[in-house]
Amino acid sequence: PKGSVRMIDLPQVHDPRGDLTFVEGGNHLPFDIARVYYLYNVPVDSERGGHAHRDLEQVVFALSGSFRMKIDDGNTKSEYWLRDPRKGLYISRMVWREMDAFSQGAVCMVLASHRYDEADYFRDYESFLTHARA
Ligand code: TYD
Repeated sequence: PKGSVRMIDLPQVHDPRGDLTFVEGGNHLPFDIARVYYLYNVPVDSERGGHAHRDLEQVVFALSGSFRMKIDDGNTKSEYWLRDPRKGLYISRMVWREMDAFSQGAVCMVLASHRYDEADYFRDYESFLTHARA
């Protein structure tokens, strides 16, 4: 599958004792997982993100609750509502993202292709656009 942003469906082992979903780096995702981080205790009026990455690829999940991801590849804007812990949003490198509309108690988990590196961030939208359109 191509595209800089797309939904990834993970397997679900449905069970009356509780559902189970799993993810294997390099198998269900197009990269090996180098880092996992999660957002929690998020105020409902919070806005997060507001950056892009030079090299990082990520897959974002709502493990609990829901939130909106606003996506901009420099040419096209789109938005996704994440609310199913089985469905992740794959975001390639060079994509601007913003997150808002968090439900009460939402938990956002992110699987990332690299360890944290501040030098990989574009935090300025205009300089992101300049590089994205180059
Ligand atoms: P940031 O990526 O800006 O968060 P968000 O996109 O969710 O709004 O990161 C917020 C702060 O946390 C920033 O100071 C960097 C730090 N941070 C780490 O130290 N390690 C990490 O893996 C991440 C994602 C952030």
